[in-house]
Amino acid sequence: MPSSPSPLAHLLGCRYPIVAGGMAWCSGAKLAAAVSAAGGLGLIGGASMDADLFRRHIRKARQLTSRPVGVNIPLTFHQAEALAAVAIDEAVPIVFTSAGSPRRFTPEFKARGIKVFHVAPSPALACKCEAAGVDGVVVEGFEAGGHNAHEELTTLVLVPQVVDAVNIPVLAAGGIGDGRQMAAALALGADGVQIGTRFAMTQESSAHPAFKEYCAAAGSDCTRLVLKKNIPVRMMANRLRDRIEAAEAAGADREELLAILGRGRPEAGMFRGEIEEGMLEIGQVAGMLHDLPPVAAVFDRLLSEYEATRRALPKI
Ligand SMILES: Cc1cc2nc3c(=O)[nH]c(=O)nc-3n(C[C@H](O)[C@H](O)[C@H](O)COP(=O)(O)O)c2cc1C
Repeated sequence: MPSSPSPLAHLLGCRYPIVAGGMAWCSGAKLAAAVSAAGGLGLIGGASMDADLFRRHIRKARQLTSRPVGVNIPLTFHQAEALAAVAIDEAVPIVFTSAGSPRRFTPEFKARGIKVFHVAPSPALACKCEAAGVDGVVVEGFEAGGHNAHEELTTLVLVPQVVDAVNIPVLAAGGIGDGRQMAAALALGADGVQIGTRFAMTQESSAHPAFKEYCAAAGSDCTRLVLKKNIPVRMMANRLRDRIEAAEAAGADREELLAILGRGRPEAGMFRGEIEEGMLEIGQVAGMLHDLPPVAAVFDRLLSEYEATRRALPKI
């Protein structure tokens, strides 16, 4: 990484253009603050919080670090409106919105001096984000953990298309777990990266230890994208996923799949550690990550691997 902050890092208010994506049940104040303290931008994931808890996490993060910390608000979340009001009230410096129209809150945030990034899984949506006036886009490929797009474009294929299509900063996301993958994303033209899974699998992540350990022990083909008829989600193998896949193979419709899911499965799996019956959202890259380091160690590795990769690129 360069010795002075890149233009995107400058825009994000941090040292390195490395963002820890908002992650339901995993990215509370502790993780977000640790990432910002290490030189990246940490995001508090609003999707698993009500407005009061969201406010408490924003305030706690400020006690833990003097560096800027942002928030993530998925726009399909039923409390999105309330979370947006808290973000404005607390004068959060930067908001990452996802899963919904980038036009919904962007003008309101921008009018208050809040920077806005929106998650876009396709070049077409990235262009809509640019037209909506966002400061940058997160371009998230098929490999990513959490809810996923119907487009199924991989990071390697998606990032260059978006880089060619827009004139705003691009953060590549999906499948970036080490410095080699970060170098690859920047080689594709991205200005920085948003990382989820690697930070979900750290000491500071608020995910349940049993979930983190299950991910660290998993093999390279541990995740699959399921629930494509509902909202596609990348899930770690377990009994719940087996049941979902069996139902999908038998032609189950949306309602039948919703009945299998019931309520509260993400909290049960990721936050309470119910490994077989909870929903375990994680990215493909979990299959190559076999430890649960502190955030500071992840940064040390990302940066040194990035530099080594840059230097070792072969001539052809
Ligand atoms: C456990 C988990 C929960 C996630 N929750 C959210 C969320 O609430 N909102 C969101 O915009 N993205 C969410 N994501 C996506 C991440 O912010 C990030 O874009 C993605 O994980 C990047 O891909 P990677 O997992 O391969 O690093 C989640 C990802 C994971 C692994």
